[in-house]
Amino acid sequence: MAGRLTGRSALVTGAGSGIGAATARRLAADGARVFSVDMAGAVDRHADVTSPGINAELVAEAVARHGGLDIVVPCAGISAFHPLEGHDDAYFDKVMAVNVTAVFRLIRDAVPALKLSPHGRIITIGSTMARFGDAGLVAYGASKHAVLGLTRSAACELGPWGITVNCLQPGAIETPMTEPAFTQMPEFRSYFEKKAALGRLGQPDDIADVIAFLASDDARFMSGQGFFVDGGAMQRQ
Ligand SMILES: NC(=O)c1ccc[n+]([C@@H]2O[C@H](COP(=O)([O-])OP(=O)(O)OC[C@H]3O[C@@H](n4cnc5c(N)ncnc54)[C@H](O)[C@@H]3O)[C@@H](O)[C@H]2O)c1
Repeated sequence: MAGRLTGRSALVTGAGSGIGAATARRLAADGARVFSVDMAGAVDRHADVTSPGINAELVAEAVARHGGLDIVVPCAGISAFHPLEGHDDAYFDKVMAVNVTAVFRLIRDAVPALKLSPHGRIITIGSTMARFGDAGLVAYGASKHAVLGLTRSAACELGPWGITVNCLQPGAIETPMTEPAFTQMPEFRSYFEKKAALGRLGQPDDIADVIAFLASDDARFMSGQGFFVDGGAMQRQ
């Protein structure tokens, strides 16, 4: 469906890798002008989304480049296994800073520009971890629950301006984030393959395609929702 986002301006963080990179490509393929941001990788702007004031700067830059802002996808995220016993405060705080606080700040700072758009869209990236738990992922699990809560309340608040806010909740996707675990622990990989009704891990494009749908006019009456895109992993819990 090339062209369904023609004329729209999008800001994607975490666009240097994995799901964010696939999302930037897919939105562009649908016609959007994409402002891609990451700490690393081939993007329009290198930035650490946790830096104070950076998210307002990024919004201003997207607006200046593309004459407005219609679609915001805060995709930057981090995850690593840390057992609860001995879990240090600093790592917990860091996960919350990237996965939650930076998402909150970007959404907040984008609101004035999104209010000027006739089809404002915010698509946050949660996780199936907002439904299930997993050993070693206390901080990550807490952060993804928080993103869903943030999404729902923002949707209530921004609905009067026609802005939709939804949370895409991926299952196990093969990206640089998960690659070490899937490579070093084959049993971890086969656990997720077996858990999914579709019998495989997801690819970044499996998520990016749904994000593009949520960004489109076809999803205009959907807001405040969390959507699991996990190959049917819920069916085998
Ligand atoms: N891969 C999965 O199985 C999976 C499952 C559920 C949710 N997610 C979520 O999807 C999103 C993308 O993850 P991915 O799997 O593509 O991982 P990834 O590691 O491939 O990409 C994440 C990107 O975020 C960037 N980033 C991290 N911290 C940053 C910061 N402070 N400032 C700017 N950029 C920063 C990294 O440089 C990286 O390019 C994350 O929010 C992640 O939690 C991933």
